[in-house]
Amino acid sequence: MARLGKIRNGQETSVPIQPDGQAVNENVTREHYARLAATYDQNWAHSPEFVAWMTGCIQQRLRITGADQVIDIGCGTGLYARELALDAASVVCADSSAPMLAQLPHDGRLTAVNASAEDLASGRVRLPAERFDAMLVKEVLHHVEDQGQVIGGLARLLKPGGRMLVAMLPATISYPLFASALELFTRQQPDPADIAAQMRAAGLEAELAYESFPLEFPAERYLQMVRDRHMSLLSHFSDAELEAGVAEIRRDHPGDQISFEDRFAFVLGVKA
Ligand SMILES: C[S@@+](CC[C@H](N)C(=O)[O-])C[C@H]1O[C@@H](n2cnc3c(N)ncnc32)[C@H](O)[C@@H]1O
Repeated sequence: MARLGKIRNGQETSVPIQPDGQAVNENVTREHYARLAATYDQNWAHSPEFVAWMTGCIQQRLRITGADQVIDIGCGTGLYARELALDAASVVCADSSAPMLAQLPHDGRLTAVNASAEDLASGRVRLPAERFDAMLVKEVLHHVEDQGQVIGGLARLLKPGGRMLVAMLPATISYPLFASALELFTRQQPDPADIAAQMRAAGLEAELAYESFPLEFPAERYLQMVRDRHMSLLSHFSDAELEAGVAEIRRDHPGDQISFEDRFAFVLGVKA
C-alpha cells in the first residue's frame, strides 16, 4: 500500500511515499502515541458501556478461560488486556510504544513487553511463553507495513486450537470527520476481508463479522477529541489544517450532540 506523508489543504504534498514515506509514518505513529499515552483512555474508553460491549465482542470470539495464556499485540494502555486478564491465567501485553505500556495497571497477571508486532512475528523477541491460546490484535494492523507477513509470523505463536482475533475499523468509516481525514483513513486502512485472506494463507480458519455500537458525545467534547488528534491519522495534519477540519465538522454537525455508529470488523482465525 502506498504510504502518505503530510497532507496539505487536502492534497498530498511532495513528501516522499516510498521508502522514506514509511519512515515518516513510523515517526508520526511513535510521536502520536507518546503524546497521547496519558490521555488515551480518556479519549478512547468512551463509556463503561462501550468498553463492556467491546470486551463482550472480543471474549465471545476468543473464548478465554482460566488456564489460557493470552497475548495482546499493540495492547496500548491495556484497556482490553486488563479485562481479558480477569478470565485468563496471564496476559502478555506487547506494544512498540513504551509510553503507552507505562500506562498499564499494576496487575500481576499482566506482563509488559516493549516490542513491535513485526519483532514478535519474526521471533526476534523472547516472550514469557512460547505459544499462546488466544491472541488479540486490536486496531494495530493499519500501522503495520507488511500485514500478511506479520499475520503469518503471529500465527506461529498460537498453540493448536489457538485463536487470533483482529479487531479493526472497516475499510471505510462514517465518523464525523472532515473530508481529507476520511480520505486519508481510506488510503491507510487495510480491508478486513484481506486480513481474513491473510489468516487463511497462514493456515488459520478465518471468519469475518461486523458489529456496531451507537456513540453520542456532547459536540464540544467530540471536537476536543479531534483537536487532541485522538486518531493517529489526525497527526498527519498541521494545526491550521486541523482547525479548518474542526470548522468543517461543526458546519456538518451544528447541534449540541454528535452521534454516529462505531462499526468494527472482527476477524477470527483459529489454528487447526
Ligand atoms: C489505536 S491503539 C490501540 C491500543 C489497544 N489495542 C486498544 O484497543 O485500546 C494502537 C496501538 O498500537 C501500537 N502500535 C503501533 N504500531 C505498532 C507495531 N508495529 N507493533 C506493535 N504495536 C504497535 C501503538 O503504540 C498503540 O498503542
